[in-house]
Amino acid sequence: MRTKYFLLLLMAVFCSPQLHAQYNPLKIPDTLSGTTFNLTARDTFCQILTGNQTITGAINGNWWGPTMIWQKGDVIHVNVNNQLADTTTIHWHGFHLPAIMDGGPHQPIPPYTTWSPYWKVDNNAGLYWYHPHLHMMAEEQLTMGLGGMIIVRDPVESALNLPRTYGVDDIPLALTDRKFDALNQFVVAPYGDSMMTNGVVRAQHTVPAQVIRLRLLDAATERSYNIGFSDGRTFYVITTDGGLVDAPVPVTRFLLSAGERVEILVNCTGQNGTTVDLMAYNAEITPQVPGGESFPGGPFANALGHTNFKVLHLNIGPAGSSPITTIPSTLTTNTFYPEASATTMRTVTISDSAIGGGGPTFLINHKFFGMDEIDYHVPLDNTEIWEVKSTSGFGHPFHIHDVQFYILTINGAAPPAHQKGWKDVVFVPANQTVRFIAKFTDYADELKPYMFHCHIALHEDIGMMGQFVVGTGPSGILDKARNAHMKLFPNPTNGLITFDMDDKITIRHAAVVNVHGQAVKEWNLNDNMATLDVSALAKGLYFLRLTGTDGGSYVKSYLMQ
Ligand code: C2O
Ligand code: CU
Ligand code: CU
Repeated sequence: MRTKYFLLLLMAVFCSPQLHAQYNPLKIPDTLSGTTFNLTARDTFCQILTGNQTITGAINGNWWGPTMIWQKGDVIHVNVNNQLADTTTIHWHGFHLPAIMDGGPHQPIPPYTTWSPYWKVDNNAGLYWYHPHLHMMAEEQLTMGLGGMIIVRDPVESALNLPRTYGVDDIPLALTDRKFDALNQFVVAPYGDSMMTNGVVRAQHTVPAQVIRLRLLDAATERSYNIGFSDGRTFYVITTDGGLVDAPVPVTRFLLSAGERVEILVNCTGQNGTTVDLMAYNAEITPQVPGGESFPGGPFANALGHTNFKVLHLNIGPAGSSPITTIPSTLTTNTFYPEASATTMRTVTISDSAIGGGGPTFLINHKFFGMDEIDYHVPLDNTEIWEVKSTSGFGHPFHIHDVQFYILTINGAAPPAHQKGWKDVVFVPANQTVRFIAKFTDYADELKPYMFHCHIALHEDIGMMGQFVVGTGPSGILDKARNAHMKLFPNPTNGLITFDMDDKITIRHAAVVNVHGQAVKEWNLNDNMATLDVSALAKGLYFLRLTGTDGGSYVKSYLMQ
Protein backbone atom coordinates (compact mmCIF):
# COMPACT_ATOMS: atom_id res chain seq x y z
CA MET A 1 0.00 0.00 0.00
CA ARG A 2 2.72 2.41 0.98
CA THR A 3 4.85 1.40 -2.01
CA LYS A 4 1.97 1.94 -4.40
CA TYR A 5 1.31 5.37 -2.99
CA PHE A 6 4.97 6.25 -3.34
CA LEU A 7 4.97 5.11 -6.97
CA LEU A 8 1.96 7.26 -7.72
CA LEU A 9 3.75 10.20 -6.18
CA LEU A 10 6.85 9.48 -8.19
CA MET A 11 4.82 9.31 -11.39
CA ALA A 12 3.18 12.60 -10.56
CA VAL A 13 6.58 14.21 -10.18
CA PHE A 14 8.04 12.79 -13.37
CA CYS A 15 4.94 13.56 -15.41
CA SER A 16 4.79 17.17 -14.37
CA PRO A 17 5.23 19.18 -17.55
CA GLN A 18 8.01 21.33 -16.09
CA LEU A 19 10.28 18.38 -15.60
CA HIS A 20 9.79 17.14 -19.14
CA ALA A 21 9.86 20.40 -20.99
CA GLN A 22 13.31 21.63 -21.82
CA TYR A 23 11.98 25.17 -21.75
CA ASN A 24 9.43 27.11 -19.74
CA PRO A 25 7.16 29.75 -21.27
CA LEU A 26 8.44 33.29 -20.86
CA LYS A 27 6.25 35.42 -18.63
CA ILE A 28 5.37 38.84 -19.96
CA PRO A 29 4.71 41.28 -17.10
CA ASP A 30 1.26 42.90 -17.08
CA THR A 31 1.09 46.52 -18.10
CA LEU A 32 -0.38 49.52 -16.31
CA SER A 33 -1.07 52.77 -18.11
CA GLY A 34 -2.74 56.08 -17.36
CA THR A 35 -1.52 58.73 -14.96
CA THR A 36 -2.23 57.16 -11.55
CA PHE A 37 -0.50 53.92 -10.66
CA ASN A 38 -1.02 51.69 -7.65
CA LEU A 39 1.83 49.42 -6.70
CA THR A 40 1.69 47.07 -3.74
CA ALA A 41 4.86 45.33 -2.63
CA ARG A 42 4.31 42.05 -0.79
CA ASP A 43 6.05 39.01 0.53
CA THR A 44 4.66 36.18 -1.55
CA PHE A 45 5.77 33.01 -3.33
CA CYS A 46 6.17 31.81 -6.85
CA GLN A 47 6.54 28.49 -8.67
CA ILE A 48 9.95 29.00 -10.24
CA LEU A 49 11.45 25.52 -10.03
CA THR A 50 9.77 22.14 -9.89
CA GLY A 51 8.82 21.26 -6.33
CA ASN A 52 8.77 23.84 -3.58
CA GLN A 53 7.63 27.30 -4.45
CA THR A 54 10.12 30.08 -3.81
CA ILE A 55 9.41 32.84 -1.32
CA THR A 56 9.61 36.11 -3.23
CA GLY A 57 8.98 39.79 -2.81
CA ALA A 58 6.87 41.13 -5.65
CA ILE A 59 4.75 44.03 -6.76
CA ASN A 60 1.07 43.45 -7.58
CA GLY A 61 1.75 39.76 -8.25
CA ASN A 62 4.09 36.99 -7.25
CA TRP A 63 7.23 37.87 -9.18
CA TRP A 64 8.76 41.23 -10.12
CA GLY A 65 6.17 43.90 -10.98
CA PRO A 66 3.99 45.29 -13.75
CA THR A 67 5.44 47.27 -16.63
CA MET A 68 4.21 50.84 -16.35
CA ILE A 69 3.64 52.75 -19.58
CA TRP A 70 4.14 56.48 -19.19
CA GLN A 71 3.74 59.28 -21.72
CA LYS A 72 6.36 61.98 -21.80
CA GLY A 73 4.78 65.23 -20.57
CA ASP A 74 2.20 63.57 -18.30
CA VAL A 75 2.13 64.28 -14.59
CA ILE A 76 2.04 60.85 -13.04
CA HIS A 77 1.15 59.83 -9.51
CA VAL A 78 2.29 56.55 -8.01
CA ASN A 79 0.97 55.09 -4.79
CA VAL A 80 3.53 52.64 -3.46
CA ASN A 81 1.95 50.56 -0.74
CA ASN A 82 4.50 48.60 1.27
CA GLN A 83 3.00 45.38 2.58
CA LEU A 84 6.41 43.81 3.06
CA ALA A 85 7.42 42.99 6.59
CA ASP A 86 10.35 45.32 6.04
CA THR A 87 11.08 48.91 5.15
CA THR A 88 11.85 49.49 1.50
CA THR A 89 12.13 52.27 -1.07
CA ILE A 90 11.18 52.36 -4.73
CA HIS A 91 13.53 54.30 -6.98
CA TRP A 92 12.61 55.43 -10.51
CA HIS A 93 15.83 54.52 -12.25
CA GLY A 94 16.83 56.92 -14.99
CA PHE A 95 14.24 59.61 -14.35
CA HIS A 96 14.75 63.31 -14.08
CA LEU A 97 12.59 64.30 -11.13
CA PRO A 98 12.73 66.14 -7.81
CA ALA A 99 15.09 64.42 -5.38
CA ILE A 100 12.31 63.99 -2.83
CA MET A 101 10.36 61.91 -5.38
CA ASP A 102 13.41 59.86 -6.40
CA GLY A 103 12.87 56.91 -4.06
CA GLY A 104 16.50 56.63 -3.05
CA PRO A 105 17.75 55.76 0.44
CA HIS A 106 16.30 59.03 1.80
CA GLN A 107 12.70 58.14 0.98
CA PRO A 108 12.09 54.98 3.03
CA ILE A 109 8.62 53.44 3.04
CA PRO A 110 8.00 51.79 6.40
CA PRO A 111 5.96 48.57 6.41
CA TYR A 112 2.20 49.00 5.96
CA THR A 113 2.48 52.57 4.75
CA THR A 114 1.99 54.18 1.35
CA TRP A 115 4.37 56.60 -0.34
CA SER A 116 2.86 58.74 -3.08
CA PRO A 117 5.36 60.59 -5.25
CA TYR A 118 4.33 62.50 -8.35
CA TRP A 119 6.15 64.42 -11.05
CA LYS A 120 6.04 65.38 -14.68
CA VAL A 121 7.63 62.78 -16.94
CA ASP A 122 10.40 64.55 -18.77
CA ASN A 123 12.37 61.60 -20.10
CA ASN A 124 12.56 60.50 -23.71
CA ALA A 125 10.84 57.35 -24.94
CA GLY A 126 12.80 54.33 -23.80
CA LEU A 127 13.05 51.57 -21.26
CA TYR A 128 13.52 52.48 -17.61
CA TRP A 129 12.87 50.60 -14.40
CA TYR A 130 12.00 50.80 -10.73
CA HIS A 131 13.62 48.97 -7.87
CA PRO A 132 14.29 49.06 -4.12
CA HIS A 133 17.12 51.32 -2.98
CA LEU A 134 17.22 51.04 0.80
CA HIS A 135 20.76 51.59 1.99
CA MET A 136 22.53 48.30 2.74
CA MET A 137 19.45 46.33 1.67
CA ALA A 138 19.51 46.70 -2.11
CA GLU A 139 21.04 43.31 -2.83
CA GLU A 140 18.65 41.43 -0.59
CA GLN A 141 15.50 43.20 -1.78
CA LEU A 142 16.48 42.92 -5.45
CA THR A 143 17.19 39.23 -4.94
CA MET A 144 13.68 38.71 -3.58
CA GLY A 145 12.39 39.88 -6.95
CA LEU A 146 11.20 43.42 -6.24
CA GLY A 147 11.25 45.75 -9.21
CA GLY A 148 9.63 46.36 -12.55
CA MET A 149 10.04 47.99 -15.94
CA ILE A 150 8.80 51.32 -17.24
CA ILE A 151 8.25 52.10 -20.91
CA VAL A 152 8.13 55.78 -21.77
CA ARG A 153 6.48 56.80 -25.01
CA ASP A 154 6.86 60.14 -26.75
CA PRO A 155 5.84 61.67 -30.10
CA VAL A 156 9.28 61.22 -31.68
CA GLU A 157 9.40 57.51 -31.06
CA SER A 158 5.70 57.03 -31.80
CA ALA A 159 6.15 58.50 -35.28
CA LEU A 160 8.70 55.84 -36.23
CA ASN A 161 7.87 52.58 -37.94
CA LEU A 162 9.05 50.41 -35.04
CA PRO A 163 7.59 47.26 -33.44
CA ARG A 164 5.35 48.40 -30.63
CA THR A 165 2.95 45.56 -29.80
CA TYR A 166 3.81 44.66 -26.22
CA GLY A 167 4.69 41.02 -25.71
CA VAL A 168 4.26 40.22 -29.41
CA ASP A 169 6.89 42.06 -31.45
CA ASP A 170 8.01 44.37 -28.63
CA ILE A 171 9.22 42.21 -25.79
CA PRO A 172 10.47 43.45 -22.42
CA LEU A 173 13.17 41.24 -20.95
CA ALA A 174 14.47 41.64 -17.40
CA LEU A 175 17.66 39.60 -17.09
CA THR A 176 18.77 38.27 -13.73
CA ASP A 177 20.24 35.12 -12.28
CA ARG A 178 19.66 33.41 -8.98
CA LYS A 179 21.16 30.86 -6.67
CA PHE A 180 18.67 28.46 -5.02
CA ASP A 181 19.10 26.38 -1.90
CA ALA A 182 18.00 22.74 -1.60
CA LEU A 183 14.48 23.90 -0.69
CA ASN A 184 14.25 26.09 -3.82
CA GLN A 185 14.68 29.30 -1.83
CA PHE A 186 16.78 32.23 -3.01
CA VAL A 187 20.26 32.57 -1.63
CA VAL A 188 21.39 36.19 -1.39
CA ALA A 189 24.64 35.97 -3.34
CA PRO A 190 26.40 38.17 -5.87
CA TYR A 191 25.94 35.60 -8.62
CA GLY A 192 23.30 32.96 -9.34
CA ASP A 193 23.60 29.55 -10.96
CA SER A 194 20.39 29.85 -12.96
CA MET A 195 19.65 32.43 -15.61
CA MET A 196 16.19 33.93 -15.12
CA THR A 197 14.52 35.91 -17.86
CA ASN A 198 11.41 37.71 -16.63
CA GLY A 199 11.59 35.40 -13.61
CA VAL A 200 11.61 32.22 -15.71
CA VAL A 201 14.45 29.70 -15.84
CA ARG A 202 15.14 28.18 -19.29
CA ALA A 203 12.66 30.58 -20.86
CA GLN A 204 11.33 30.31 -24.39
CA HIS A 205 9.05 32.56 -26.37
CA THR A 206 7.47 32.50 -29.82
CA VAL A 207 7.99 35.57 -31.95
CA PRO A 208 6.66 36.44 -35.41
CA ALA A 209 8.85 36.16 -38.51
CA GLN A 210 9.38 39.90 -38.85
CA VAL A 211 11.44 42.63 -37.22
CA ILE A 212 11.09 42.30 -33.46
CA ARG A 213 12.15 44.64 -30.73
CA LEU A 214 13.69 43.32 -27.54
CA ARG A 215 13.92 45.71 -24.60
CA LEU A 216 16.70 44.39 -22.42
CA LEU A 217 17.27 45.36 -18.81
CA ASP A 218 20.13 44.03 -16.71
CA ALA A 219 18.30 43.65 -13.40
CA ALA A 220 20.96 41.39 -11.89
CA THR A 221 22.67 42.31 -8.67
CA GLU A 222 26.11 41.99 -10.24
CA ARG A 223 26.39 40.15 -13.54
CA SER A 224 26.95 41.74 -16.94
CA TYR A 225 25.51 39.89 -19.95
CA ASN A 226 27.49 39.90 -23.18
CA ILE A 227 24.45 39.71 -25.44
CA GLY A 228 24.50 38.00 -28.84
CA PHE A 229 22.61 35.41 -30.88
CA SER A 230 23.41 31.71 -31.30
CA ASP A 231 23.59 32.03 -35.09
CA GLY A 232 25.91 35.02 -34.87
CA ARG A 233 23.38 37.32 -36.52
CA THR A 234 23.69 41.07 -36.51
CA PHE A 235 21.18 42.99 -34.41
CA TYR A 236 20.52 46.70 -34.23
CA VAL A 237 20.85 48.92 -31.18
CA ILE A 238 18.14 51.58 -31.23
CA THR A 239 18.34 53.02 -27.72
CA THR A 240 20.74 53.63 -24.90
CA ASP A 241 19.47 54.03 -21.31
CA GLY A 242 17.73 57.35 -21.88
CA GLY A 243 16.28 57.16 -25.37
CA LEU A 244 16.83 56.65 -29.08
CA VAL A 245 20.23 56.83 -30.71
CA ASP A 246 20.42 58.80 -33.97
CA ALA A 247 20.38 55.69 -36.15
CA PRO A 248 20.28 51.93 -35.54
CA VAL A 249 23.76 50.60 -34.82
CA PRO A 250 24.51 47.11 -36.17
CA VAL A 251 26.39 44.90 -33.69
CA THR A 252 26.87 41.22 -32.94
CA ARG A 253 27.60 41.70 -29.23
CA PHE A 254 26.39 44.15 -26.61
CA LEU A 255 27.81 44.14 -23.10
CA LEU A 256 24.90 44.95 -20.78
CA SER A 257 25.88 45.89 -17.23
CA ALA A 258 23.84 45.93 -14.03
CA GLY A 259 21.19 48.65 -14.19
CA GLU A 260 21.73 49.30 -17.89
CA ARG A 261 19.13 49.02 -20.64
CA VAL A 262 19.27 48.62 -24.39
CA GLU A 263 16.57 48.14 -27.00
CA ILE A 264 17.50 46.09 -30.03
CA LEU A 265 15.84 45.23 -33.33
CA VAL A 266 16.23 41.67 -34.58
CA ASN A 267 15.22 40.82 -38.11
CA CYS A 268 13.38 37.49 -38.15
CA THR A 269 11.69 38.13 -41.52
CA GLY A 270 11.34 34.93 -43.56
CA GLN A 271 12.48 32.71 -40.69
CA ASN A 272 9.15 31.11 -39.81
CA GLY A 273 9.70 27.62 -38.40
CA THR A 274 13.25 28.23 -37.21
CA THR A 275 14.69 28.82 -33.75
CA VAL A 276 17.48 30.97 -32.41
CA ASP A 277 18.79 31.61 -28.91
CA LEU A 278 19.41 34.96 -27.33
CA MET A 279 22.70 34.29 -25.56
CA ALA A 280 25.06 35.70 -22.98
CA TYR A 281 28.55 35.10 -24.38
CA ASN A 282 30.21 35.56 -21.04
CA ALA A 283 33.09 33.21 -21.87
CA GLU A 284 34.27 36.06 -24.07
CA ILE A 285 34.55 38.58 -21.24
CA THR A 286 37.56 38.92 -19.01
CA PRO A 287 37.64 38.31 -15.25
CA GLN A 288 37.72 42.10 -14.80
CA VAL A 289 34.11 42.28 -16.04
CA PRO A 290 31.35 41.14 -13.66
CA GLY A 291 30.39 37.66 -14.86
CA GLY A 292 33.70 37.04 -16.61
CA GLU A 293 35.29 35.48 -13.55
CA SER A 294 35.24 31.78 -12.76
CA PHE A 295 35.52 31.19 -9.05
CA PRO A 296 36.36 27.65 -7.97
CA GLY A 297 34.69 28.15 -4.58
CA GLY A 298 33.62 30.70 -2.01
CA PRO A 299 30.74 33.16 -1.99
CA PHE A 300 31.24 34.22 -5.61
CA ALA A 301 31.33 30.70 -7.09
CA ASN A 302 28.53 30.16 -9.58
CA ALA A 303 27.61 27.97 -12.51
CA LEU A 304 27.40 30.81 -15.04
CA GLY A 305 30.75 32.51 -14.45
CA HIS A 306 32.88 32.89 -17.58
CA THR A 307 30.58 30.65 -19.64
CA ASN A 308 28.18 31.14 -22.53
CA PHE A 309 24.57 30.49 -21.63
CA LYS A 310 21.07 30.88 -23.04
CA VAL A 311 19.04 33.92 -22.07
CA LEU A 312 15.94 33.14 -24.14
CA HIS A 313 15.06 30.44 -26.65
CA LEU A 314 13.16 32.03 -29.52
CA ASN A 315 10.78 30.01 -31.68
CA ILE A 316 10.03 31.95 -34.82
CA GLY A 317 6.41 31.55 -35.90
CA PRO A 318 4.33 33.06 -38.71
CA ALA A 319 4.50 36.79 -39.29
CA GLY A 320 1.68 38.98 -37.96
CA SER A 321 -0.84 40.90 -40.06
CA SER A 322 1.07 44.11 -40.74
CA PRO A 323 4.62 43.15 -39.96
CA ILE A 324 7.59 45.46 -39.92
CA THR A 325 10.20 43.87 -42.13
CA THR A 326 12.96 46.43 -42.43
CA ILE A 327 15.30 48.22 -40.08
CA PRO A 328 14.84 52.00 -40.26
CA SER A 329 17.87 53.95 -41.42
CA THR A 330 17.47 56.86 -39.00
CA LEU A 331 15.67 57.35 -35.70
CA THR A 332 16.13 60.83 -34.27
CA THR A 333 18.53 63.76 -34.03
CA ASN A 334 20.04 64.05 -30.59
CA THR A 335 21.73 67.22 -29.46
CA PHE A 336 24.23 66.56 -26.74
CA TYR A 337 25.93 69.20 -24.61
CA PRO A 338 29.11 70.50 -26.22
CA GLU A 339 32.18 69.76 -24.15
CA ALA A 340 33.06 73.45 -24.06
CA SER A 341 29.75 74.28 -22.37
CA ALA A 342 30.84 72.61 -19.13
CA THR A 343 31.75 75.01 -16.34
CA THR A 344 32.72 72.47 -13.69
CA MET A 345 34.82 69.35 -13.85
CA ARG A 346 34.71 66.83 -11.06
CA THR A 347 36.95 63.85 -10.63
CA VAL A 348 35.23 60.89 -9.04
CA THR A 349 37.61 58.11 -8.10
CA ILE A 350 36.92 54.40 -8.00
CA SER A 351 39.52 52.43 -6.12
CA ASP A 352 40.30 49.24 -4.28
CA SER A 353 41.25 50.71 -0.93
CA ALA A 354 42.00 49.00 2.31
CA ILE A 355 39.62 50.59 4.77
CA GLY A 356 37.90 49.56 7.96
CA GLY A 357 40.39 46.86 8.87
CA GLY A 358 39.40 44.22 6.29
CA GLY A 359 40.83 43.51 2.86
CA PRO A 360 40.53 45.94 0.00
CA THR A 361 37.06 47.38 -0.55
CA PHE A 362 35.74 49.04 -3.67
CA LEU A 363 35.25 52.71 -2.88
CA ILE A 364 34.15 55.93 -4.52
CA ASN A 365 36.32 58.91 -3.54
CA HIS A 366 38.23 56.76 -1.03
CA LYS A 367 35.44 56.66 1.53
CA PHE A 368 32.28 54.83 2.44
CA PHE A 369 28.87 56.30 1.72
CA GLY A 370 27.49 58.38 4.57
CA MET A 371 23.77 59.12 4.65
CA ASP A 372 24.47 62.64 5.89
CA GLU A 373 27.56 63.48 3.88
CA ILE A 374 27.00 65.41 0.70
CA ASP A 375 29.88 64.88 -1.68
CA TYR A 376 29.01 67.55 -4.21
CA HIS A 377 26.96 70.68 -4.24
CA VAL A 378 25.94 71.15 -7.87
CA PRO A 379 24.74 74.61 -8.81
CA LEU A 380 21.34 74.57 -10.51
CA ASP A 381 21.62 74.59 -14.32
CA ASN A 382 25.32 73.77 -14.17
CA THR A 383 26.80 71.79 -17.03
CA GLU A 384 29.50 69.51 -15.66
CA ILE A 385 32.03 67.00 -16.83
CA TRP A 386 32.42 64.09 -14.47
CA GLU A 387 35.65 62.23 -14.86
CA VAL A 388 35.22 58.81 -13.31
CA LYS A 389 38.73 57.62 -12.76
CA SER A 390 39.20 54.02 -11.79
CA THR A 391 42.28 52.48 -10.26
CA SER A 392 40.24 49.42 -9.36
CA GLY A 393 41.33 46.07 -10.71
CA PHE A 394 37.67 45.31 -11.42
CA GLY A 395 35.12 47.00 -13.68
CA HIS A 396 32.15 48.81 -12.12
CA PRO A 397 28.88 50.06 -13.67
CA PHE A 398 28.66 53.69 -12.56
CA HIS A 399 25.16 55.17 -12.23
CA ILE A 400 24.00 58.67 -11.44
CA HIS A 401 20.50 59.80 -10.50
CA ASP A 402 18.63 62.90 -11.74
CA VAL A 403 20.34 63.30 -15.10
CA GLN A 404 20.97 61.57 -18.38
CA PHE A 405 24.54 62.08 -19.51
CA TYR A 406 26.54 61.79 -22.68
CA ILE A 407 29.84 59.85 -22.66
CA LEU A 408 32.72 61.99 -23.91
CA THR A 409 35.54 59.48 -23.66
CA ILE A 410 36.27 55.98 -22.44
CA ASN A 411 39.95 55.66 -21.66
CA GLY A 412 40.67 58.68 -23.83
CA ALA A 413 38.76 57.51 -26.91
CA ALA A 414 35.32 58.52 -28.17
CA PRO A 415 32.62 56.01 -27.20
CA PRO A 416 31.54 53.39 -29.74
CA ALA A 417 28.43 54.24 -31.81
CA HIS A 418 26.17 52.05 -29.68
CA GLN A 419 27.04 54.14 -26.61
CA LYS A 420 26.55 57.51 -28.30
CA GLY A 421 23.28 58.31 -26.65
CA TRP A 422 21.69 59.41 -23.39
CA LYS A 423 22.99 57.26 -20.58
CA ASP A 424 22.55 56.88 -16.85
CA VAL A 425 24.80 53.86 -16.35
CA VAL A 426 28.27 53.53 -17.81
CA PHE A 427 30.56 50.59 -17.38
CA VAL A 428 33.92 51.83 -16.11
CA PRO A 429 36.44 49.13 -17.04
CA ALA A 430 39.23 48.22 -14.62
CA ASN A 431 41.90 50.92 -14.41
CA GLN A 432 40.22 53.13 -17.00
CA THR A 433 38.75 56.60 -16.97
CA VAL A 434 35.33 57.50 -18.31
CA ARG A 435 34.34 61.13 -18.85
CA PHE A 436 30.75 62.21 -19.31
CA ILE A 437 28.88 65.48 -19.54
CA ALA A 438 25.54 66.29 -17.91
CA LYS A 439 23.41 69.30 -17.12
CA PHE A 440 21.64 69.58 -13.76
CA THR A 441 18.41 71.42 -14.44
CA ASP A 442 15.02 72.09 -12.85
CA TYR A 443 14.94 70.71 -9.32
CA ALA A 444 16.94 72.66 -6.78
CA ASP A 445 16.77 71.34 -3.24
CA GLU A 446 19.65 71.99 -0.85
CA LEU A 447 18.50 69.31 1.56
CA LYS A 448 17.53 66.34 -0.57
CA PRO A 449 20.39 64.54 -2.25
CA TYR A 450 20.60 62.42 -5.38
CA MET A 451 22.83 59.33 -5.43
CA PHE A 452 25.68 58.22 -7.62
CA HIS A 453 26.98 54.73 -7.16
CA CYS A 454 28.19 51.45 -8.49
CA HIS A 455 25.14 49.49 -9.66
CA ILE A 456 26.56 46.22 -8.37
CA ALA A 457 24.16 45.86 -5.44
CA LEU A 458 26.71 44.36 -3.09
CA HIS A 459 29.19 47.18 -3.75
CA GLU A 460 26.49 49.82 -3.34
CA ASP A 461 25.29 48.24 -0.09
CA ILE A 462 28.80 48.18 1.32
CA GLY A 463 29.05 51.91 0.60
CA MET A 464 30.29 52.38 -2.96
CA MET A 465 28.00 55.35 -3.28
CA GLY A 466 28.02 59.10 -2.93
CA GLN A 467 25.46 61.86 -3.11
CA PHE A 468 25.02 65.37 -4.38
CA VAL A 469 22.51 68.14 -3.97
CA VAL A 470 21.47 70.51 -6.70
CA GLY A 471 21.11 74.03 -5.43
CA THR A 472 21.95 77.64 -5.76
CA GLY A 473 24.96 77.56 -3.41
CA PRO A 474 28.60 77.30 -4.44
CA SER A 475 29.98 73.99 -5.61
CA GLY A 476 32.45 72.09 -3.47
CA ILE A 477 33.41 68.68 -2.24
CA LEU A 478 32.04 67.22 0.98
CA ASP A 479 29.92 70.30 1.32
CA LYS A 480 27.03 68.78 3.22
CA ALA A 481 23.97 71.02 3.03
CA ARG A 482 24.13 71.40 6.79
CA ASN A 483 27.83 72.01 6.59
CA ALA A 484 27.16 75.34 4.97
CA HIS A 485 27.02 76.42 8.64
CA MET A 486 30.59 75.26 9.19
CA LYS A 487 33.83 76.87 8.07
CA LEU A 488 37.08 74.99 8.37
CA PHE A 489 40.50 76.46 7.73
CA PRO A 490 43.26 76.33 6.75
CA ASN A 491 42.90 73.36 4.45
CA PRO A 492 45.34 71.76 3.86
CA THR A 493 46.75 72.27 7.31
CA ASN A 494 50.07 71.41 8.88
CA GLY A 495 49.27 71.67 12.56
CA LEU A 496 46.37 73.88 13.61
CA ILE A 497 42.84 73.70 12.27
CA THR A 498 40.09 76.18 13.08
CA PHE A 499 36.35 75.71 12.81
CA ASP A 500 33.93 78.59 12.78
CA MET A 501 30.20 77.94 13.05
CA ASP A 502 27.21 80.15 12.38
CA ASP A 503 26.39 82.15 15.49
CA LYS A 504 23.49 80.06 16.75
CA ILE A 505 25.38 76.75 16.73
CA THR A 506 27.37 75.75 19.81
CA ILE A 507 29.73 72.82 19.49
CA ARG A 508 30.09 70.51 22.49
CA HIS A 509 32.34 67.87 21.00
CA ALA A 510 34.90 67.66 18.22
CA ALA A 511 36.57 64.56 16.80
CA VAL A 512 39.13 64.00 14.10
CA VAL A 513 38.16 60.83 12.23
CA ASN A 514 40.58 58.99 9.96
CA VAL A 515 39.65 57.29 6.68
CA HIS A 516 39.07 54.06 8.58
CA GLY A 517 36.26 55.74 10.47
CA GLN A 518 38.19 55.78 13.75
CA ALA A 519 38.23 58.86 15.95
CA VAL A 520 41.92 59.62 16.46
CA LYS A 521 41.62 62.79 18.55
CA GLU A 522 38.69 64.21 20.52
CA TRP A 523 37.85 67.36 22.45
CA ASN A 524 34.96 68.39 24.70
CA LEU A 525 34.14 72.02 24.10
CA ASN A 526 31.50 74.66 24.50
CA ASP A 527 32.08 77.13 21.74
CA ASN A 528 31.11 78.07 18.23
CA MET A 529 34.67 78.65 17.14
CA ALA A 530 37.91 76.98 18.21
CA THR A 531 41.41 76.23 17.03
CA LEU A 532 42.47 72.63 17.48
CA ASP A 533 45.99 71.26 17.62
CA VAL A 534 46.25 68.36 15.19
CA SER A 535 50.01 68.55 14.71
CA ALA A 536 50.59 65.09 16.20
CA LEU A 537 48.71 63.36 13.38
CA ALA A 538 50.38 61.80 10.36
CA LYS A 539 49.93 63.22 6.86
CA GLY A 540 46.73 62.24 5.12
CA LEU A 541 43.02 62.79 4.76
CA TYR A 542 40.89 63.34 7.88
CA PHE A 543 37.38 64.39 8.74
CA LEU A 544 36.56 66.87 11.47
CA ARG A 545 33.26 65.83 13.01
CA LEU A 546 31.55 68.35 15.27
CA THR A 547 28.56 67.71 17.49
CA GLY A 548 26.37 70.64 18.44
CA THR A 549 24.61 71.13 21.76
CA ASP A 550 21.40 70.53 19.81
CA GLY A 551 22.68 67.09 18.71
CA GLY A 552 23.32 68.13 15.10
CA SER A 553 26.54 66.87 13.54
CA TYR A 554 28.77 68.59 11.00
CA VAL A 555 31.56 67.01 9.02
CA LYS A 556 34.21 68.36 6.73
CA SER A 557 37.29 66.74 5.33
CA TYR A 558 40.71 68.26 5.48
CA LEU A 559 44.16 67.32 4.40
CA MET A 560 47.12 67.12 6.77
CA GLN A 561 50.41 68.02 5.10
CU1 C2O B 1 19.10 51.81 -10.29
CU2 C2O B 1 20.58 54.36 -7.61
O1 C2O B 1 19.82 53.03 -8.89
CU1 CU C 1 18.92 55.26 -10.37
CU1 CU D 1 31.29 48.11 -8.04
